[in-house]
Amino acid sequence: MPKRRAFGSHGGRVALLHALAHIELNAIDLGWDILARFSGEALPREFFDDWVGVAAEEGVHFGLLARRLADFGACYGDLPAHDGLWEAASATAGDVLGRLAVVPLALEARGLDVTPEMIGRLERAGDPQSADLLRRIYRDEIGHVAAGVRWFDYLCRARGLLPEEVFQDRIRRCFRGGLKPPFNVAARTAAGFPARYYGAQDGTQ
Ligand SMILES: [Fe+2]
Ligand SMILES: [Fe+2]
Repeated sequence: MPKRRAFGSHGGRVALLHALAHIELNAIDLGWDILARFSGEALPREFFDDWVGVAAEEGVHFGLLARRLADFGACYGDLPAHDGLWEAASATAGDVLGRLAVVPLALEARGLDVTPEMIGRLERAGDPQSADLLRRIYRDEIGHVAAGVRWFDYLCRARGLLPEEVFQDRIRRCFRGGLKPPFNVAARTAAGFPARYYGAQDGTQ
């Protein structure tokens, strides 16, 4: 993958929007994949409702980014894209707890960590429209992390397991590179994601 250029240039902006559209496209697939792949697990109807809702929102996010790319005369598919998200899906194909730890609780939570800085950089580059789009995505993604926490906790408790221990175990075994601070503890806490899971302080413990 070529290194991303500065946000201020036309090429840099297109590269950023393209990379984000690629993430959202994978997120659509991951939303449907968790539904289909783990449909045999003992899970309540609400689990499936939640991930249908997530997949639908990821579709909205992809559409918003695709339209913004079109404003710059570009479209999804113009640039190469990495396969990291789908590798994460393959690595956790046999383990719903691994999937929840890696996708909503590591990757989407990481999105919460890095998005505020991206929004600031877009604003400084004179692109409030793209910044607003990212703000909308950021708000929705807090809900996706919240769904991840809800079902991760539910499954751990149903199996008599301690959620924070299972989380750390799955990150060690299934998430290459591990977690990368700094964490956006405020946004993670808003999603109901306890800081003790990922080894940070949220000021309440
Ligand atoms: Fe999204
Ligand atoms: Fe998401």
